[in-house]
Amino acid sequence: MPYAAFRSIGAYVPSGVLTNHDLEKMVDTSDEWITKRTGIKTRRIAAKDEKTSDMGTKAAEVALKRAGLKADDIDLLVCATISPDYFCMPSTASVIASNLGIKGAMAFDISAACTGFIYVLSIAKAFIESGMKKNALIIGAEKLSAITDYTDRGTCILFGDGAGAAVITSTENKDEAIIDVHTASDGDYADLLMTPNGGSGSVHDDLDKEKAGCYMKMKGNETFKIAVKTLTQDVRDILEANNIHSDEIDHFVPHQANYRIIKAVGDALKLKDEQVVLTVSKYGNTSGASIPMAINEIYEEGKLKKGELMLLDAFGGGLTWGSALVPFAPFS
Ligand code: COA
Repeated sequence: MPYAAFRSIGAYVPSGVLTNHDLEKMVDTSDEWITKRTGIKTRRIAAKDEKTSDMGTKAAEVALKRAGLKADDIDLLVCATISPDYFCMPSTASVIASNLGIKGAMAFDISAACTGFIYVLSIAKAFIESGMKKNALIIGAEKLSAITDYTDRGTCILFGDGAGAAVITSTENKDEAIIDVHTASDGDYADLLMTPNGGSGSVHDDLDKEKAGCYMKMKGNETFKIAVKTLTQDVRDILEANNIHSDEIDHFVPHQANYRIIKAVGDALKLKDEQVVLTVSKYGNTSGASIPMAINEIYEEGKLKKGELMLLDAFGGGLTWGSALVPFAPFS
């Protein structure tokens, strides 16, 4: 039976920086409040003419190069995004495939908000283990600044832009295989975090973003409480199901939504600070891009070594959530 191995990571971080002090001039907030409630200090913002696909392409180029694979080798490309280049089509994945010169591969987007990267990881794993595909390029790319209402202090302090990508390939070696991926959802809570209109459910005729409600709306406090409870349970479940103790985890890479959520889940699992990967202060919440951007961070700092075990977890709009146990398995 073929297994799926996590071969490489790449990321792209746009150059624009939005600080808490910048936000103080835009809405009624303070650096102190944002830092205390979220742990966020800065977020990166893409240039006006920089699309989600541009960022995804750059991250994918790095991941492909590090894996030593060429465009021709890729037979599956999936992009997790809630801020696609185009409202309906083409998919951001198709645009990225074209940018990279990938011809003929299956390419599509998925919409699972902040859990997007866990979802695309599970899709890559399933296609590879079934034998249908051999080399997958999975991407999380977001230009959240395009769907953020910078007059709403409840959301605009949280979100940023960026992209991350990973190469997952088929292997016969069980030791390097992705151990498990959990994915789940509960649409009963859809209204907690949503872009209420602008789609086929919209009651508006015009496409003015403000009137059409294309911006994100969030019931932050309710979402926070469900996130902590759900993630703690989900992570406990995946560890227990695979008979792995939390001290066997080399790197806990959570979705970077809020430092307090990460801390609560980490404490519940008795994880040590050095096991927990934190990028939220620098990049804020980049939704589907946040986990691969965080993995890339520890890779570039030389902290992620071959054979080390990562525990990923994420929670987001849908509601969706998931977790994964992933050994880092570069070819060399
Ligand atoms: N600056 C200053 N005050 C703010 C503020 C801001 N940016 N945003 C909200 N407030 C105020 C509220 O109006 C409220 O005031 P009140 O007590 O006078 O009514 C007070 O701060 C507390 O608001 P609350 O929403 O309860 O704060 P919180 O501690 O829950 O923090 C979030 C707000 C958004 C940071 C937090 O709820 C959060 O991170 N939620 C989850 C995000 C998430 O994980 N999303 C899903 C995955 S992407």
